[in-house]
Amino acid sequence: MRMYDIIEKKRDGLALTDEEINFFIDGYTDGTIPDYQASALSMAIYFNGMTEQERATLTMRMVESGDTIDLSPIEGIKVDKHSTGGVGDTTTLVLAPLVAAVGVPVAKMSGRGLGHTGGTIDKLEAVPGFHVEIENDEFIRLVNENKISVIGQSGNLTPADKKLYGLRDVTATVNSIPLIASSIMSKKIAAGADAIVLDVKTGAGAFMKSEEESIELAKAMVSIGNNVGRQTMAVISDMGQPLGRAIGNALEVEEAIQTLRGQGPEDLTELSLTIGSQMVVVGGQAETLAEAREKLEAVIENGQALETFKTFLSSQGGDASVVDNVDGLPQAEYQIELPAKTSGYVSEIIADEIGQAASLLGAGRQTKESEIDLAVGLVLNKKVGDYVEEGESLLTIHSNTEDVESIKDKLYHNMTISTDKVEAPTLIKTTVSE
Ligand code: URA
Ligand code: CA
Repeated sequence: MRMYDIIEKKRDGLALTDEEINFFIDGYTDGTIPDYQASALSMAIYFNGMTEQERATLTMRMVESGDTIDLSPIEGIKVDKHSTGGVGDTTTLVLAPLVAAVGVPVAKMSGRGLGHTGGTIDKLEAVPGFHVEIENDEFIRLVNENKISVIGQSGNLTPADKKLYGLRDVTATVNSIPLIASSIMSKKIAAGADAIVLDVKTGAGAFMKSEEESIELAKAMVSIGNNVGRQTMAVISDMGQPLGRAIGNALEVEEAIQTLRGQGPEDLTELSLTIGSQMVVVGGQAETLAEAREKLEAVIENGQALETFKTFLSSQGGDASVVDNVDGLPQAEYQIELPAKTSGYVSEIIADEIGQAASLLGAGRQTKESEIDLAVGLVLNKKVGDYVEEGESLLTIHSNTEDVESIKDKLYHNMTISTDKVEAPTLIKTTVSE
């Protein structure tokens, strides 16, 4: 088999066989196929797409290119959740204890944040003492005992994807639906998930700016999952403005606690219940989404969700007393208000720019090596559609430096107030289940 013929075939719009895809992935991973041929093929895929069969084969061959995590010693259907990346996206912190409280095992391998999106591990580490460096057997034991544990990324998972993603990044071939879908799904499958729920973000702060493209991406991932025997569902949710009110590590832990108590922001609560219901259904703990939702609402109401969160924190060394007293979380030295310059309706809060502002305060990493400040961030006092009086606070800046003038400029620049009435955007655009 020759790589030349594979490129030519895809260039001409034909579907590749399983053998051809396997030949490409194996050869590219072991270095016998050079970058220039892999980039030519990526570009051909970018223009000509891939069939369902090709996508499934590509995904599974990337899974097989490296280590895979075996979660079979954990009882039950292991459901993983993946978000395509949001700003102030506190949902994983809420969802993990929430679905665990209704019996869905959460064995999560999570990452750290880079750039304007935060990582779940960074957020959890805002709880004093909490750590994710635990041995595999301990991880399995914790999930069997408490239904929940989170560890950091380990092992050599999907090296083929790592190499190919790096190449796509510099050859203008990231934005291809079959390539994104197989990249994301290969990582979830290698991490051991039996079932997968996807939160595909759409809007200014998202990877896919238009709703149509977001739906197409969701469908592509759901069909890969279902084709390779992992039940998969997806939610398309708005990421025009940040989710909830808090953006920043300790601030989001506090927001998650409020939400688990039933007192969180409306949008974060709704998204958590929507994604959570899908997780409970694919996790086999409810027949229908409506039944799943009732179960989730019940554990918020009766305090079990919050109890599960406490157990989870202390099982990994964390100080669970922060749940009842959030003053135990890192606090920033200064709380500075951002007053509205005019009265009117908030019409735009550009998520990725607001996320960058939080990152500049120290809440996120500029490079992989940067240290983050767990205490700092932003809390929105107004969201899109809200009315604001001139001088009233749009948001509160939690900072460890007093001089935040350039951050304020950036925030003003990315929050618009209109004299015309503005409706709040629809949060859940649609769901995809097959
Ligand atoms: N995230 C991924 O993991 N892979 C892609 O291709 C795009 C986004
Ligand atoms: Ca938030």
